[in-house]
Amino acid sequence: MEKIVIDGKHTLSGKITIGGAKNSTVALIPAALLADGVSTIKNVPNITDRDALFDIVKELDCEIVQKGKEIKIDTKNLTNKTISQELSVRLRASYYFMGVLLGKYKHVEIYFPGGCNIGQRPIDLHLKGFKAMGAKVTKNKHKYMLDAEELHGANINLTFASVGATINIMYAASLANGVTTINNAAKEVEIINVADYLNKMGAKVAGAGTSTIVIEGVKKLHGTDIEVIPDRIEAGTYILMGALLGDNLVVDGIIPEHNKALFDKLSEMGVKFTLGRRSVTINRCKNLKPVNVTTEVYPGFPTDLGQPMSVLLTQANGTCIMEETIFENRVGHYPYLQKMGANIELNGSVATIHGKSKLIGTDINATDLRGGSALILAGLIAEGTTTIRDIDYILRGYENIIHKLSSVGAKIRLEEI
Ligand code: EPU
Repeated sequence: MEKIVIDGKHTLSGKITIGGAKNSTVALIPAALLADGVSTIKNVPNITDRDALFDIVKELDCEIVQKGKEIKIDTKNLTNKTISQELSVRLRASYYFMGVLLGKYKHVEIYFPGGCNIGQRPIDLHLKGFKAMGAKVTKNKHKYMLDAEELHGANINLTFASVGATINIMYAASLANGVTTINNAAKEVEIINVADYLNKMGAKVAGAGTSTIVIEGVKKLHGTDIEVIPDRIEAGTYILMGALLGDNLVVDGIIPEHNKALFDKLSEMGVKFTLGRRSVTINRCKNLKPVNVTTEVYPGFPTDLGQPMSVLLTQANGTCIMEETIFENRVGHYPYLQKMGANIELNGSVATIHGKSKLIGTDINATDLRGGSALILAGLIAEGTTTIRDIDYILRGYENIIHKLSSVGAKIRLEEI
């Protein structure tokens, strides 16, 4: 087991290159199983959630060949087995095999998914969608069983614009008979990436990126290639580091409009940055104005950046409110920020953050992926040494984070516990 050790207060300058989006990757790898034949997925990030998906795909007898950031998945021997509990609980995105296998075989048995402990995270909307298409869903203590004699198109109204439910329904609907309409669909850019992949496979998906997605089912899908879009959350995390410690820090390989909500907030706080076509150059702001931030579905301020953002707010000159509205328990990092010296009152998912606080390095624990990256951010600006344990959460979704930060001047390292 390892821990992350950070000596704080070092300036960040140079260039960080952003990898492929975790939340696209974890949907695109399962989607490859919808196709008959070989799919190529490019720009796949080196994260442990990817490795967990590789293990599931192999468990289902598909072949995976990886060359750097490019993977090829061959489905010729695909078998519709029950994905083992050990693999299902390794990540949230194991739930995408539900839509894929239901679409392809009309039968799935799958253990409950895992993922970060940031709320209850029910999957009732996924199941409601499958049921509307004709699937019978049964559940025992650990597993879901889904069966359909035939999957048919349906008109599905999501009561919340869930990313996972939108994608899962797109998968099953792509191989259903007839037309499925998803109303109040999620609009996250990762959904467009997934829809592009499905359409290149021969699916007929229209409207991705809007709140109405229409899918006309087809009989078969074929192997093709797709490139994972840049990770706007990884990018946002480094951009926030730049706002605190940057000396012309360049965050490269991004699609700036995907981070518009973050850039708008940074401008409001007085942070100076220059946007390029695929990059941003950002400098430390010594006089941060206080702001209030509420997380929202895309294109609002992303929930996945709420925790890292809260660290920036500890350095504003005045009181800020950070409100998380998507997940009810995305607050595990706050006690550790308080331990480091931040002045924060937490009331449910609303944090009142009084700045500017001096943070002091100490021993802390990552409680989830984005909470973990928030603690790295805190360690980078703290005086002295910060030690972070339970770092597996962080490695789930940030590729080569130690190397990327070291290469721009951070004093950060892994140590054996
Ligand atoms: N929800 C329901 N019922 C459902 C589905 C969702 O009540 O059937 C609720 C959830 O409990 C949550 C809210 O709706 O309160 C949003 O959930 P959503 O389905 O949109 O999120 P998700 O599919 O579980 C994905 C990402 C998350 C990211 C969210 C929102 C994956 C594997 N996970 O989760 O990523 O925060 O969308 O953008 O793609 C992360 O990267 O740190 C992360 C948690």
